[in-house]
Amino acid sequence: MNQSRGNWSSNLGFILAATGSAIGLGNLWKFPFITWENDGGAFVLIYLICIAAVGLPIMMGELLIGRKTQKSPVGALREAIGPIWGWVGAWGVIAGFVILSYYAIVAGWSLLYFTKAVGWSLQGFPDVLDAGSAFGELAGNGSKQLILTGLFLGMTVGAVYFGVHNGIERVARISLPILFVILLLLLLSALSMSGSRDALTFIFRPNFSELDSGSVLMALGQAFFSLSLGMGAMITYGSYVARNRSIVNAAGVIVILDTLIALSAAIIMFSVIFTVPGMTEQVEGSAVGMLFIALPELFYDVVPFGRFLGPLFYVLVALAALTSTISLLEVVVSYVIDEVKISRPRATIVSGGLTFVLSILAALSLGAVPALSNFEFFAGKPGVFNTLDHFAANWMLPTGGLLVTLGVGWFMSRQSTESELIDENTPSWFDYRLWRFCIRYIAPVAVTAIVISVILGHDFS
Ligand code: TRP
Repeated sequence: MNQSRGNWSSNLGFILAATGSAIGLGNLWKFPFITWENDGGAFVLIYLICIAAVGLPIMMGELLIGRKTQKSPVGALREAIGPIWGWVGAWGVIAGFVILSYYAIVAGWSLLYFTKAVGWSLQGFPDVLDAGSAFGELAGNGSKQLILTGLFLGMTVGAVYFGVHNGIERVARISLPILFVILLLLLLSALSMSGSRDALTFIFRPNFSELDSGSVLMALGQAFFSLSLGMGAMITYGSYVARNRSIVNAAGVIVILDTLIALSAAIIMFSVIFTVPGMTEQVEGSAVGMLFIALPELFYDVVPFGRFLGPLFYVLVALAALTSTISLLEVVVSYVIDEVKISRPRATIVSGGLTFVLSILAALSLGAVPALSNFEFFAGKPGVFNTLDHFAANWMLPTGGLLVTLGVGWFMSRQSTESELIDENTPSWFDYRLWRFCIRYIAPVAVTAIVISVILGHDFS
């Protein structure tokens, strides 16, 4: 093993970092929104099935490739499966770079809304504020966007710069407990609201008459994004796991925590929405709307302890996003360190800087610069920001995920995957034959269905 690569200091450190990668804007921002769009219950049930039958097996697959080879995605896939598979790793590195460039923009807004919420808590929410146009103004304000995005990328670079143990793991160890506590407080407050009953019914009572095949594919796409699968993030994090530690249990914990957080976020938002008369009609349109337009005012109107919870909510969003942007940048940086062979500090600064260049284009494409905002490469997805999101979520992750699944299931020998997953630490709930069945048949078929539906024009972003 190459000693200079660094390792997680403990199993807990690894689990927290990987869970931090998984929990992010996908849980807090996308999941409630698409659950809303797909009429709740039945969609949530399908999502849970996708997580268990496709997400969990692929999570184990990515982690095992990383742990086995102790390399970043390109070298790992090359060594574990074959030389040509390095290209799949490279595809993942590009995906990390692309996702990071626009994800950091939304993450940056949470910093601004935190400071705003502190002001509102101290001075009262202004009666005349039109939250929708305030948000529109921010979106179109190029210099504000650049400062916020730059700040967030700076924080991300700051963590990755110090390495696996002193940077990434340390941030996760501090952030995740805070995140869980804030979420618990929000959940308690939400459950005390009169709308919480309707919210729980909406989320947990399946009504299959509302479900179409588009929803099934949407659930699968969301499972991928939320678990950070399909682009080598979990290969990278797995590569810092010492060879004698079980990844089966870790995968189980990561998947369960990620799912609980997504469900909690949905319960919190829908409890608020169902409590306010007329709100259900207002909540359509964008998911961003829920976080940055509808919620701010509601904290000061209806949420119990809202003055206290409002600012904390944006701390939650920022921390959840930070542990995710860290994992996205780490995929790129670990590739640069291993393949270009430069030091971590240099690799981090170069990768972060290049990402910022792409971010600038995306940040200015939300209204600030018309030429960047209005062109349509994909129909209905105007501007650089939407184009990147659509390309990454709809094209890059499913294709990358499909290739990884096929690689692990069909191109690695049974013996080599079995010896990675089964050892004296393997928990008794794990069944290797079931895993292999999922990774060889269920996951590829399901992911192929996504890819085909994207080709036929379905949108998951
Ligand atoms: N999983 C994160 C979220 O839900 C986003 C994310 C981080 C991601 N790293 C990733 C998505 C790698 C895909 C691949 O917000």
